[in-house]
Order: sequence, then structure tokens, then C-alpha cells
Amino acid sequence: MQIETRRTLPYPDQKPGTSGLRKKVKVFLQENYLENFVQSVFDVLGEVAGKTLVLGGDGRYLNRRAAQTILKMAAANGVGRLLVGQGGLLSTPAASCLIRKHRAVGGFVLSASHNPGGPDEDFGIKYNAGNGGPAPQAFTDAVYRRSREIGEYRIAEVPDVDLDTAGQFDLAGMRVEIIDPVADYAQLMERLFDFPLIEGALKSGAISLCFDAMHAVTGPYARRIFEERLGAAPGSVIHGTPLEDFGGGHPDPNLVHARGLAELMYSGRAPTLGAASDGDGDRNMIMGSQFFVTPSDSLAVLAANLHLLPGYRQGLRGVARSMPTSRAVDRVAQALGIDCYETPTGWKFFGNLLDAHRITLCGEESFGTGSDHVREKDGLWAVLCWLNLVALRKQSVGDIVRDHWRRFGRDYYSRHDYEGMSAAVGEGIIARLRERLPSLPGQRWGAYAISGADDFSYTDPVDGSVSAQQGIRIVFDNGARIVYRLSGTGTEGATLRIYLEQYEPDPTRHDRDPQVYLRELIELAEHLGEVKRRSGMDGPTVIT
Ligand code: G1P
Ligand code: ZN
Repeated sequence: MQIETRRTLPYPDQKPGTSGLRKKVKVFLQENYLENFVQSVFDVLGEVAGKTLVLGGDGRYLNRRAAQTILKMAAANGVGRLLVGQGGLLSTPAASCLIRKHRAVGGFVLSASHNPGGPDEDFGIKYNAGNGGPAPQAFTDAVYRRSREIGEYRIAEVPDVDLDTAGQFDLAGMRVEIIDPVADYAQLMERLFDFPLIEGALKSGAISLCFDAMHAVTGPYARRIFEERLGAAPGSVIHGTPLEDFGGGHPDPNLVHARGLAELMYSGRAPTLGAASDGDGDRNMIMGSQFFVTPSDSLAVLAANLHLLPGYRQGLRGVARSMPTSRAVDRVAQALGIDCYETPTGWKFFGNLLDAHRITLCGEESFGTGSDHVREKDGLWAVLCWLNLVALRKQSVGDIVRDHWRRFGRDYYSRHDYEGMSAAVGEGIIARLRERLPSLPGQRWGAYAISGADDFSYTDPVDGSVSAQQGIRIVFDNGARIVYRLSGTGTEGATLRIYLEQYEPDPTRHDRDPQVYLRELIELAEHLGEVKRRSGMDGPTVIT
């Protein structure tokens, strides 16, 4: 018999965070660590005979090995058909697209997103459900419970399969299809955007592009779509070859980690659009010549313009943003007369709203934007939105955003991260703020008077589930807001995130540096959170 049942012992720490189970590679290399988690998923899934699953990852260290293990375990657990991205690769949005298109029950995505990769860095695994989105909380809770009591797992005793050659074969009774990771996704993009218009603009030189794939999974997607299909000049995609350690870099598209791109965009040689994506292809950073678009502004601009693009001509049903994302998109929703939902951090909360057709567009301040075309945020999709917009409006990225501010006002925005504090200190800061919540309203510092303070709680309007303690919100009566929360994606210690924003309606005051404009609010946030005193840290480690 090819199928083996092997004994194992449970691990206590397999609780999925904001985005699946994410740990140091060394943790994943412990005996049966991956096997336990994967078997726990199969145990919760139940009957999978005759059903289809999807498998792929961002190409980081351990991706190939983990893919082999999951292949053999899927066969042993009776999966009917497994679609695997060639080379073991699939971007997160492409996995979502495949699950939906092929009516799979779900899929495994191997990624730790924007965290670095390599033997001493991070690995991760997440399970997506049949709608193509992150598994809901009830599912991940059940997987965690199962992982605490697991006693055995099933695996097919077969040699490794060839992941690099497209084709189909049988593996211990399961049909395996090694597929082109880009094709289905590229087809979907072609339906949503005006490819002939973009192609014409790129080929005539009316617009130009530099896309930084950061040696992560979007390289093959970007080369195929931007260079081969849309005719962007060869070399428009940089760092386009996926590497197991992302070339030693940090595959996080922001001004710090995509420094080369940022320098180009502030130089005299800047193309019309500069963009980057993260490890697994769901994040995006958008820049114009001499211009950085904050993700919150990008979401608002797309809300105001999406109806101009072929896939969205019927207009938007509604929009949603995560709570810490700036309120810029709320102003657009109000002007359009559509609903705007405020959800906790993490993409999974958008899924129900999308499935219930309550929203078309959603996004987060953390460089995540997406629509109802898949159930994940989608980096290349966001880049195509902006490419299509600059080709259509024949305006620079900066002019499009400045026009937007003139119409709606500007929400100055910044996020300050304090990384690497101990979990106890991080939790202490939040606990102390929570304790003080009732006494905050009415307190005043100069122009800042607190009009409301709470610990954000979300009741899902579709299924009624409640997610409490999702971040401390402090709102001021002059249009400013401070939010404090702890990261749920870190693998060590705690990261405190402080989100700062202030509304400015006056167009003559729209050209300030956010760090300067927000200085008083930043000081107030430090003061209220007692961050220096409690953590010993002099300032944030990352500012976006
Ligand atoms: C971070 C972001 C969040 C995003 C998540 C997954 O989570 O803040 O918006 O959904 O990564 O990409 P956090 O570390 O803040 O919990
Ligand atoms: Zn990601």
C-alpha cells in the first residue's frame, strides 16, 4: 500500500495569525511540524474525495520541499485533483483566481508574505476556502484546536514529483495537474482592463513603467503581462526572477525596502508609473514621478475612478476599508451615495462583504487593494488599475491625486511601527490605553480635543460574528485620529503600530510633508501611549 499513517505528537503553537501560520523556518523544520498543520486542515475539511484543491507559493526557502509534502499528504487524504503552479509557484491572488475558476474546495498558499526568506528567516502556510479567500476564523480556530490533539497524519510513500514540467499525472490515486501559474490570472486581468489602450500608450511611449518584483513571485506575472502582453519596454520589470531568499532583501513594497525604485521615481529619469509588490504578490506600492501615493489615498482615488475601467463600468456596489486605513475613501463613498464598511485589520473580513455583493472595492493602509474579481488583495491588479488610469486620463499620477484632494480634501496619513519590543511591553501599552478609555473623551491638548475613544469591535453584517479588541481608536474633534494596535503577523516579540491621520480641506495646504504636518499629533500619540517610557524606544523603527 502506498498510503502510510504515521504517528505524531501535537505542537502547542500552531495558531494561525492575521494571515495563516507564520513561523521561522527553523520552527517549520521540526519533526512533523508542517505535517501536523496540514493534517489538521484535512481533518477539519472532512471528505475531499472527488474534490479539487490548489497548491502554490511565493518561491521562498522551503517552498519546494513543503509543496512535495503537501502533494503526498493530499493524495493520502483522498483529494480528487490537485492543481499545482509550475515550479511550486502561485501568487496569492492567482491562487484565489484559480480556486474560484476551477471551483476548488480551497487551496494551500505557501508564503510569509512580505517577511524575508531563507534558512534563518520566515516561512508560512495559509489555507484559502472555496470562495478563494482566507479561511474564516471559525475554520482556523478549528484547525488550531485539532493541531493541539493530533496523533497521526497520512502521507503517500512515493518519490518526489517533478514540479517544473507542466503536465498531468496520477499520484497514488490523485490527479495532479502542474499548470502555468500565470495564464488564468492574466486572462482575468485582460477582462477587467483596457489592454488595447494600455498597450497603445506603452508602445507609443506616451506612458512608461518600472515595476519592482523584489525577486519574489510577481516577476513571472509582471514580465508576461507588462512586457510580453502589453508591450512595456524590456527591462520595465526589475528584480523579476524569484529567489528563495529574495536576493537577501525584504520583499515589502514600501519606500524603505524598494529603495532603488523610490530613488528612480525621485530622479530626473522617472517613468510615468513606478510600482512594486511583495513576496506573494498581494501588496502594491504606487508612485508617480516625484510622487508617492499612500495606500489609503490610492484606495480613495480608485473608488472615485474605477467606473471608468472596463470591468467596473456598472459602478461600485459599496466599498470597505480596514479600521486603521484613513477615512479618505469614506468621503468618496459619501459623494457616490454608496455604503462604506469599516472592518478589522486583515483581508478575511472583506470576504463576506464581497460574497454578499455588498462591496466591489476594498483596501488597507498596509499597501493592500483589491476588488470582487478575487478574494485576496491583488498587487498587479492595483498596478493595472493605475496604468489604465494614467493611459485614460492622460495625467500624471501626482496630478490625478492632487485633483482628488482638491475635490475631496486631503487626509494626511502616516503609520509608525515600533518593531522588536517584548510581547509584555506591547501588551502593556495597549492594556493601559484600554484602561484609560473612559476618561479620555473631553480631554484637550491645544487644538486637539478628544471626541471619542474606544477599542474597536466589529459585528459582521453578513454572519453576525463579533471580533472584539481590534485596536484602540482615539478620535479628535478637528478631524484627527490616532489608532494603536499590535501586529498579528510577526514571528517574534511584538510590533506596536500607531496610525496617525488628519483631515485638511484647504487646497493651499495640501503640499506639506506628512511627518511635518502631523508633528503635533505624533507627539500626542507618543504621550498618550507612554511608548518611550514603557518600551525604552526613542522612536519608531519604520515609518510609512
Ligand atoms: C499586516 C497589515 C494588515 C495585513 C496583514 C497581512 O498585519 O497591517 O493590514 O492584512 O499584514 O498582509 P499586522 O501585522 O498589522 O497584523
Ligand atoms: Zn503579501
